[in-house]
Amino acid sequence: MPLITQAVIEEIKNRCDIVEFISTYVNLKRAGSNYVGLCPFHSEKTPSFTVFPDTQNFYCFGCGAGGDLINFVRKIENLDYVSSVELLAKRAGITIKASEEEAIAARKRQRTLEMNTVAAKYYNHVLLNTDEGKPGLQYLLSRKLTIPLIRHFGLGFAPANSKELINILRSKGYSTGEMTESYLAKVSANGNVYPLFNNRVIFPIISTSGNVVAFGGRVMDDSKPKYLNSSDTPAFKKSKNLFALNFARKTGSERMILCEGYMDVISLHGAGFSNAVATLGTAITPDQARIFSKYTKNVVICYDSDEAGQRAADKAFTLLGEAGVECKILAVQNAKDPDEYITKNGPSAFKNLLEGSLSEYDYKFEKILSKYDLSNSENKIQALDEVELLLASSYSSARRDVYISDAAKKFDVKPESIKSDVDMLIRRRQKAEKNEEKKQLLVKTSGYGDRINPDTAKNLRAVRAEEAMLGIILIHPEYLEELEKNGNLPTPDEFFSGFGRKVYNAILDIYHNSVFEESMLGEYLSSDEYDRIIGYKTSRKMLTDNSVEVFAQCRKTLNEASERPGLSLRELVEKKRKELSDSINNGGKT
Ligand code: CTP
Ligand code: MN
Repeated sequence: MPLITQAVIEEIKNRCDIVEFISTYVNLKRAGSNYVGLCPFHSEKTPSFTVFPDTQNFYCFGCGAGGDLINFVRKIENLDYVSSVELLAKRAGITIKASEEEAIAARKRQRTLEMNTVAAKYYNHVLLNTDEGKPGLQYLLSRKLTIPLIRHFGLGFAPANSKELINILRSKGYSTGEMTESYLAKVSANGNVYPLFNNRVIFPIISTSGNVVAFGGRVMDDSKPKYLNSSDTPAFKKSKNLFALNFARKTGSERMILCEGYMDVISLHGAGFSNAVATLGTAITPDQARIFSKYTKNVVICYDSDEAGQRAADKAFTLLGEAGVECKILAVQNAKDPDEYITKNGPSAFKNLLEGSLSEYDYKFEKILSKYDLSNSENKIQALDEVELLLASSYSSARRDVYISDAAKKFDVKPESIKSDVDMLIRRRQKAEKNEEKKQLLVKTSGYGDRINPDTAKNLRAVRAEEAMLGIILIHPEYLEELEKNGNLPTPDEFFSGFGRKVYNAILDIYHNSVFEESMLGEYLSSDEYDRIIGYKTSRKMLTDNSVEVFAQCRKTLNEASERPGLSLRELVEKKRKELSDSINNGGKT
């Protein structure tokens, strides 16, 4: 039985306009009666992402992502079906009656947050007001933090060998299970309950809505592990939060500074750079890159100066670039990280560094130059080769021209020579990309390697037939009633592929429980599976005039297929391999 009723979905669709909603994520331009923009689900340079106001659907002709408003939210916010409906309902001011499971999850989340608040207050109190907190306070002061800064970040201390936090939480009615699930306590082999953080200074992680969602705890000497962090809890996902974003988002600054460590961020805020944030002990994730894009257009990457930090910077450039954020990089010199730099040189020196931060191209260019001795001509040629590869890797042609003329000066060669080399590299790359595309297309049209419907390759004809049937049902759900009235409703086993049966079963389930509403399929299918069936609908559009006949025809094809089973898997792999290699030998002509 579906969790979310058709009435709720209808109401959401009445109140939220898909064009308006998607416009908050994608820059849409009108094209006839539709809207187009750059697809947020794959990287592209020409817009193939289309929104259809008439049907309140979207579809990307490049990557095949598509569906209604709910599927859009699911994909863009990376949420499950139910949470996506909830998000939209909330926006539209509709209350959904929470199901039992959801109510339990919400309560768990709530209790974790409450426990975190209790713990944060306790740790902070211990640090600032007690004798057992003295080692923590001494440590933080020795790191040049001031009392106001410590208060601002709500830092704390988890005293050594104390069970006080456990007792406090227990007296407030929280169970051991709740404490361990929230990463505040652990149970030893013989059943004793201990606080998870022991003899560590505490960094609370605060969400943008102001809740303490997690903690990091640092040792005060060189013992390992240096930091202990809350793992994911009912109220927290490491990959979707940033340290100090609660402050940084309020600065209204046009850029943010991305650091590696808690201490870097705190130092920067202390020095007046309150637009600094850090990831939580992991490399930046696509979700975090997307969070940046919500709050700012520019990020200065300010990682540690070691190898690892510089490697991590490359990843940050890529992910933030993909999320549409312009990046620069700042390398601190003669200090291992921004915190040390500021402590040594003060805020105004850092400000100068910040103003001199390098673009991705300049940074990579400098890095290449630093590897070679340009007075040696062999070295110089190697360096130039690398620079040309860098120039060919992306960038607009106008930018490239500027870079080329700079590089020509630096290497003392003619810009035209660099340009012709780079153009050649670009052509070569484009050709390779085209071949790859052709190969992919071939794989796609043969159904070989289809991950959503692995049965496709076993009998392409049968699968295409059932896709057409499903597409027609989705466009004309009223057929279901008609077929049922005539006692002619297809049975699930008439469908050839496992995926086809799964989709059809879901359709029947919804149909038998209420009125058929396409959006409700989201509850049965993953978002990629959902994209696929929206594709069926789109490719069936032209057949809608005579869909009754097409439906019957396809059904016949399907029934014939079940009498003559397809090739065995081995035969099939052989056949496809041969087709593929023939076609590649033909230069992709089929
Ligand atoms: N980190 C972690 N676990 C570790 C080491 C590091 O989770 N064992 C995470 C923490 O979020 C830390 C960040 O990675 O803030 C960066 O690590 P590092 O540069 O070592 O720490 P700093 O914050 O700079 O701390 P400090 O200056 O006190 O060494
Ligand atoms: Mn540090």
